[in-house]
Amino acid sequence: MQPPRAPQPPHDLAIQFGGGDFRKVGKDLVSLCVAHGGLRPDAAVLDVGCGAGRIAVALCDYLDASGRYEGFDIYPPGVEWCQRAITPLFPRFRFQLADVYNRLYYPLSSVRASEFVFPYPDDSFDFAVLNSVFTHMRPADVENYLKQVHRVLRPGGGCLITFFLLNEQTRERIAAGAAKWRFEHAFGVFHTHSLEDPEEVVAYDEAFIRKLFAQKGFDISRQIYGNWRGIRSGTHQDMVFAVRRPGTSSPEAG
Ligand SMILES: C[S@@+](CC[C@H](N)C(=O)[O-])C[C@H]1O[C@@H](n2cnc3c(N)ncnc32)[C@H](O)[C@@H]1O
Repeated sequence: MQPPRAPQPPHDLAIQFGGGDFRKVGKDLVSLCVAHGGLRPDAAVLDVGCGAGRIAVALCDYLDASGRYEGFDIYPPGVEWCQRAITPLFPRFRFQLADVYNRLYYPLSSVRASEFVFPYPDDSFDFAVLNSVFTHMRPADVENYLKQVHRVLRPGGGCLITFFLLNEQTRERIAAGAAKWRFEHAFGVFHTHSLEDPEEVVAYDEAFIRKLFAQKGFDISRQIYGNWRGIRSGTHQDMVFAVRRPGTSSPEAG
């Protein structure tokens, strides 16, 4: 029997999480995770900030019967659509709504991302993906989420996390007017393009992010710079592929 075709959210919902061809963007991300992050068809995958299921839909065609997927997000319409449309067809794909504050996506919560504990046991995933999530979060929130990713990944498990990273090259491209955003408002390592809505698009100093991954017990295995900085690239945001360093327990990586 043919496996079911994964559904696609209504256009109005899909475009709230990024533009482009919904299926193609998801499929390309999954291909990059396979090529550079060691994602396998039998993996247990965690999708943090799963939105309206762009990566889940692509994984429906990729994961095999021993693979499984968990996604969570703070934006109710996205999670509700995924629960209603994907899980009944693909029961190994599950979605949860998290009650966590984000000024842009869920300003009603009193729970800070810097204090949120992911609702999964330790060492329970082979791969985690955070696509276009840390590009909307503040430093203390990013630090805690990276610690949580470390806790729920098994030792040796991989992740893909996207960023807008500032380094010498980006600063030159920004100065030359070639980058998509200038990120002109800096607060330490945190940079935003909008004082009215600081979490709309967030960039970090690359040196800070590299140090943070090392501190939290990750080895960066591959980086791909995105075309947002005005270079030719197959990706838009900057991508960091990393592996939970075997031998680091979560408390040590604190
Ligand atoms: C640009 S969208 C990307 C969605 C999805 N990752 C994708 O690639 O289609 C950013 C997502 O991050 C989610 N988000 C923001 N802050 C979050 C947090 N603290 N915890 C979980 N998700 C969060 C938003 O609700 C939104 O769905």
